Amino acid sequence: MKKLIAYVCMMFFVLTSAAQSQTDESKMNRFVSGLMKKMTLEEKVGQLNQYAGGFATGPNNTRVSRTEDISKGLVGSLLNVSGAANTRKYQEAAMKSRLRIPLIFGLDVIHGFRTGFPLPLAEAASFDLDAIERGSRCAAKEASAAGLHWTFAPMVDISWDARWGRVMEGAGEDPYYGSLVAKARVRGFQGDDLSKENTILSCIKHFAGYGAPAAGKDYNSVDMSMGQFANFYMPPYKAGAEAGAATFMSAFNDFNNEPATGNSFLLKELLKKQWGFKGFVVSDWGSVGEMMNHRYAKDDKEAAYKAIKAGLDMEMESGCYAKTLVSLVKEGKVPVKLVDDAVRRILELKYKLGLFDDPFRYCDEERERTVIGSKESRKEACYVAERSIVLLKNEGSVLPLSPSIKKVALVGALAKSQEDMCGTWSCAEVSKVVTLYEAMKKKGVTVDYHDGYDLKKNQIVNLEQTLAAARQSDVVVMAMGEQAWESGEMRSKGDISISSEQQRLVSELVKTGKPVVVLMMCGRPVIFNEVRRDAPAILCTWWLGSEAGNAICNVLFGDYNPSGKLPMTFPTDYFDIPSSKNFPMVGETKSGKNFDYTNYEEDIWVGYRYFNTVKQSIVYPFGYGLSYTNFSFSKPKIERKNNKWIANIEVTNTGNVSGKEVVQLYISAPETFIQKPDIELKAF
Ligand code: NOJ
Repeated sequence: MKKLIAYVCMMFFVLTSAAQSQTDESKMNRFVSGLMKKMTLEEKVGQLNQYAGGFATGPNNTRVSRTEDISKGLVGSLLNVSGAANTRKYQEAAMKSRLRIPLIFGLDVIHGFRTGFPLPLAEAASFDLDAIERGSRCAAKEASAAGLHWTFAPMVDISWDARWGRVMEGAGEDPYYGSLVAKARVRGFQGDDLSKENTILSCIKHFAGYGAPAAGKDYNSVDMSMGQFANFYMPPYKAGAEAGAATFMSAFNDFNNEPATGNSFLLKELLKKQWGFKGFVVSDWGSVGEMMNHRYAKDDKEAAYKAIKAGLDMEMESGCYAKTLVSLVKEGKVPVKLVDDAVRRILELKYKLGLFDDPFRYCDEERERTVIGSKESRKEACYVAERSIVLLKNEGSVLPLSPSIKKVALVGALAKSQEDMCGTWSCAEVSKVVTLYEAMKKKGVTVDYHDGYDLKKNQIVNLEQTLAAARQSDVVVMAMGEQAWESGEMRSKGDISISSEQQRLVSELVKTGKPVVVLMMCGRPVIFNEVRRDAPAILCTWWLGSEAGNAICNVLFGDYNPSGKLPMTFPTDYFDIPSSKNFPMVGETKSGKNFDYTNYEEDIWVGYRYFNTVKQSIVYPFGYGLSYTNFSFSKPKIERKNNKWIANIEVTNTGNVSGKEVVQLYISAPETFIQKPDIELKAF
């Protein structure tokens, strides 16, 4: 009986909440329709304009103060403005406009806000969706306390070519995993209610295919078969839409010969019609105007025409809508209903954020002071950072460091660099970042620090002193790799090897006979074969954010047993990159232009799919990562239950310390009517 009552109550709840959301929806529709009736065409177009209020994060920033336009109701959103007081100032200007339509403030909150979290690629190495969601949750709490309503994240572009510098911003190479990470990040940013003052709008980017530029060169052309797109690159975008992402960003690149920003197939057909996406699409920085560089539009007017027709709702920075859309409508070239559709989508999200009730609800300086950099945020950042570290090698169980260790020779300037620890594209407060050096000193061991290597000049320095320090210590810890700025937007590289001099230093240190632990700090997969050969222990620590030093120390000293797995294959040499065989010329072309022609033969055989199917040996493939303990797996028992395949497997920790293992399930299609790689990840 009790059960029945519970059941009945539940049904009632479901019915009332569905009815409630319908009323909310119709209330919103009435409000937005009422408002739109009062808007002039100029004010409508105003809502479609987004400008940078602060610094530039793209080319050709006009750097014009927009305050006057804002008070005339001619701006819908600002980017790159943050801080409760600062956003309030602009919102006050918006409140002077005739219809008092609030602005939304957007920023690239990519991995944490003032409390920095690991790079998204690093975080993806956790294979821990809860941790990933917590990362975005914390970023949303801090960003919203600084007046922000919107982040241009997550980047869900599948990327397997480590030459592309932006791989740091995604979840790596696998469409199944990438889709789950996309959903977790959207949930983290948006929570379950956008009107809560600690949630923000997310933005799935870059739609579509931005992670597949020819030869790994940022902004290069994207040319792929529809089969490759649908099976490999598309799933995470779709997952983002399914998770309820509020906005999408169109990509800079052209997609099969048409710029993504003016691409009706992508924006109108696929996203809005087939997937039923109800939010709005913003362009990437200046990408409407850039259609002229693509020779897809002859002037601002044609660019605006093609973008609005394709379903691009808000224009970031290039101002083509602002300059020409009113006349395009007046001349009858663009039906006003297209403008109305875009405006409605934007106003609906402003409504859902609660900005029409209180435009200043996110501009609370008191909340800003208490939330940002709070103890809770720091704890979360450390939690996620520990889980992002991947143990690549541990010969002779050098790690974890034994409690008997008294003296550590710490080598490498990266160990002391707060800026690098933040990682690229970071909003973190640099002065509050805990470096490895600081954290290690707090562990109560004597730390003998030496640069050992000049990162700017790319050469070994003070070799004898460094080796002497190593000889007098119990263990050597060497922080090496890339500097943070070496990955990110516009940071494509022809050669992803760690410099031979930096690697030689490791070999010299190993020759001292002391155990050497290498910390590989990087924003992308890198090649380091000499280190791999010589160093007994290697941890990939990426860039981990504000708590980097503490998290690394916790792993070094065994307070946390590493559980991360690589979300991208680390090539063993340059020619492991599939397209390398089609692309003999490394780096820029002789003409210095940022494009090259490459034939993509690899199709869906990339990353681990490539290595399993085509080339059998790879040292650090996708999904690879060790632990301080060992696990054994039973043979999986597979059964069919309720229309689902269930695989059961017994995992036993056969070592001496407790640990966590990511069990990965790969399947092969037994027979295929379309081409398939040998194995595909389907669960973990
Ligand atoms: C250009 C980048 O491609 C995009 O990801 C970013 O969100 C915008 N600039 C705004 O900063």
